[in-house]
Parts: sequence; structure tokens; C-alpha cells
Amino acid sequence: MKLQITCIPGDGIGPEIVAEAKKVLEKVGQTYGHEMVFEDILMGGASIDVHGVPLTEEAVEKAKAADAVLMGSIGGDTTTSPWYKLPPNLRPEAGLLGIRKALNLFANLRPAYLYPELAAACPLKEKISQAGFDMLIMRELTGGLYFGERRTVEENGVRKAIDTLVYDENEIRRIAVKAFDIARKRRGKVTSVDKANVLDSSRLWRKVVEEVAVGYPDVALEHMLVDNCAMQLVKDPAQFDVILTENMFGDILSDEASMVTGSIGMLASASLNDTKFGLYEPSHGSAPDIAGKDLANPIATVLSAAMMLRYSFDLDREADAVEEAVKQVLKEGYRTGDILSEGCTRVGCRQMGSLLAERIR
Ligand code: IPM
Ligand code: MG
Repeated sequence: MKLQITCIPGDGIGPEIVAEAKKVLEKVGQTYGHEMVFEDILMGGASIDVHGVPLTEEAVEKAKAADAVLMGSIGGDTTTSPWYKLPPNLRPEAGLLGIRKALNLFANLRPAYLYPELAAACPLKEKISQAGFDMLIMRELTGGLYFGERRTVEENGVRKAIDTLVYDENEIRRIAVKAFDIARKRRGKVTSVDKANVLDSSRLWRKVVEEVAVGYPDVALEHMLVDNCAMQLVKDPAQFDVILTENMFGDILSDEASMVTGSIGMLASASLNDTKFGLYEPSHGSAPDIAGKDLANPIATVLSAAMMLRYSFDLDREADAVEEAVKQVLKEGYRTGDILSEGCTRVGCRQMGSLLAERIR
């Protein structure tokens, strides 16, 4: 099979982690007889430096022409980088939001799984980490507070800023359907998270999710308020299977969920539209403080590449091989700095990539 993959190395540690994911994918290609064709595009700060904008039309076209997009990370230090002196619509993050919208990537899947080998890195009580957890956050990605109308005005000498949270029922329905479909392949439970005690958009969310649930009698549905969910994630994370939620809540809860796994450096994500096309990226940011030092953990990007093999190419065996390689390397005690614990062998980003590639069977 020929896999046409557009890569966005991006900023900060992005180029380093994408290089390691490519290394692993090349090995998958050799082992299973696939041809990997990579093409890089610029986005975020890297694009600003060359083109003056965080995302060009050409870059979007190249992304669209591929079967899938693999991304590292974008953005820099918001207090020191000159990118953040630009107007908000020209900053690195605008490139990411722009590509999500341009490619209609409305479903963001963020699995949060506690590897038994990393249980010591889990900041929760031992009885919770010993029990383990395995959840998937299904975050709506092209609507809500992120894409509603916003403006800053001055009225009678008083500055005022307005953001709006908008959802129509179709946007809610299509993400709910994805959540129920995935729950069916997992443990059959959806927790829909909203703020229906306050927000109209949440009340509509709840109604539409209930309508969708009628078609899935085999999947259990529960509703949870977002503040309670934030609490439950640290109290009893094992209760969750699929968490379905709107854009902003998903942004916040997915960081929280990743932290309880011990390291944000381990978490992959997939952003999908209604076709097989997807954009795959680690859940973490660009970590400018450690960029270029061979310190980054490439595992989240490698696991994102595994999600790409699974969801965009239907290559389950190959995806399993990548995930197995990650488990194997952890079992053998190799760790990057962010997940290091006593008695383990510390390795850099490049060596971690090579170890993973070597273990592709
Ligand atoms: C994420 C990030 C982005 C988001 C930022 C970089 C715009 O935090 O993917 O979670 O808020 O969606
Ligand atoms: Mg975020």
C-alpha cells in the first residue's frame, strides 16, 4: 500500500518528534511492505517566519491532497516569542485552528491510558494507579467557544470582550455518533459532559445526545456536569470509557486526563472528519524550553502515527506493532526524562525513536 502522508513538523520540539515518528513509520513500511511518501508543510511559527502567516492556502491544499497528516507541535513561549506580538489571527495557534476548520476535523479523539510500567508516575493515590484506567476523550473540535463570534469593543470608555459558544444540533449529532460508534468497540459506555445547569448550548447538547443514544441500546449513556467531571477524573478515573464533550471543556479535561497518566509526553490524538482522512498529533505542546536538546519524548507522536495507521489506513496489524513496540521499550526500562523513574535507563529523543523502530515486528 502507498501511504501519502503530509507532515507538519512545526515549532519547538515538533521537528524532533516528527523525525522519530517518521523513522518508526519507515520501519513499519519495510516490515509490512508499504511505501511511505512524506511531504512536509509549514505551519505555526515556522510558517510565520517564512510567509508571515501561520498557515497558507498552499499548505492547506497539500494537506488535503494527502491521505493523512502527521503533526508535531506548534507555538512558542507566549511571553518571549515575537510571534505573540502579532495580532491573534496571525499567531501560531491560528494556524492550527485554521487547518482544523479547513479540513472539517470535527472529532478529536484523545485516549488517556495508564501504562502499568508508568504507574509510578501517576500523581494519584496508589490504590487508584494500581487499578489503572483507560479512557478516550471525544472532543468536538470545530465549534463552540473556539469558533463562535468574538470581538473586543470599548463602550463609554470601558473595554469589553465577547466570546460566544454556539452549537447547532447537526454539529452535536455528528460528534455524538462518533462517540457512540467508538464506545461500541470499547467498553460500551459514554459519559457526555456539559454544563446543562447553566448553558443553553449544553441543554441542547444533552437533548441531541439523548436522541442519538436511542440508536445505541447496547451503549450506556450518562450525563455529567463538567465541574464534577474534573473532580471525578482525579477521584476515580477508572469509571470512564468514552467522555464526549464540547471543544473548550474537552481542551481542559484532556489536559487533566493526560496528567493523571503521569506524562503528557505519552498521549496521542486523532482529529477526524467524516472520511478516512485525519490529522494526528501528540496532545502535548511544543515545549520550547527543551527544543533542540534531544530531550523530548517522541512516544506521543509515535502513538499518533499508530492511530493514523488504524483510522486512516485500516492497518490494524501495523498499528498494533507500533503500540507493542512502545510497551516493549517501556518494559525494557528505557525512558526519556519526563517519564524517568528509579532503576530505568535514560535515553534521548533520537535513541527512543531508534529503539522503537528496532522493535517493530
Ligand atoms: C490543544 C491545544 C490547542 C487547543 C491550542 C494550541 C490552540 O491546547 O490541541 O489542546 O486549545 O485546541
Ligand atoms: Mg489543549
